Amino acid sequence: MFRVVRDVKAASTKPVWAKLTPNVTDVREIARAAEEAGADAISLINTISAMAIDWRSRSPLLQNNVGGYSGPVLKPIALRMIHEVRRACRIPVVGIGGITNATDALEFLVAGASAVQVGTANFVDPTVSVRIVDEMNRLLDEQGIAAARDVVGTLRLHEN
Ligand SMILES: Cc1cc2nc3c(=O)[nH]c(=O)nc-3n(C[C@H](O)[C@H](O)[C@H](O)COP(=O)(O)O)c2cc1C
Repeated sequence: MFRVVRDVKAASTKPVWAKLTPNVTDVREIARAAEEAGADAISLINTISAMAIDWRSRSPLLQNNVGGYSGPVLKPIALRMIHEVRRACRIPVVGIGGITNATDALEFLVAGASAVQVGTANFVDPTVSVRIVDEMNRLLDEQGIAAARDVVGTLRLHEN
């Protein structure tokens, strides 16, 4: 991660966001390496490595045998990783993984994402991002919160 980000930064004048895989033991180590190499932001998470199997034919359903699992099932994993990376790094975190509505997006912001991205939900409704923005504004208004940025990283952890 360090070498890739360092070399991309050296070759480009554009902002560099490092997109992280969740298929690691400790995502904070990878995030810190990206930050130390000069990444401008971190985006996470990518898909979870997974398999689908037809037991009768004993064959994987995917031609590649394994593939990336996406969509709502990722949300709790993404939230946990965003929370971890937010605390481990100073650069902005951009959250993605299972967001389908404004409540999901606001959960990501509270966990520490400065912005969110939407992937799989676009296949269900290509206008989903517009709906999410409208609905976020309504939900924030309801709570008397002036701007989405006011909830970023406001997670109140339980004291254990
Ligand atoms: C069909 C498909 C293609 C994808 N291609 C890429 C890609 O080229 N590069 C990448 O970083 N992530 C890719 N992803 C991962 C998504 O950007 C995203 O990180 C992941 O699907 C989790 O978000 P989601 O649940 O909103 O889809 C792809 C996901 C899907 C479903």
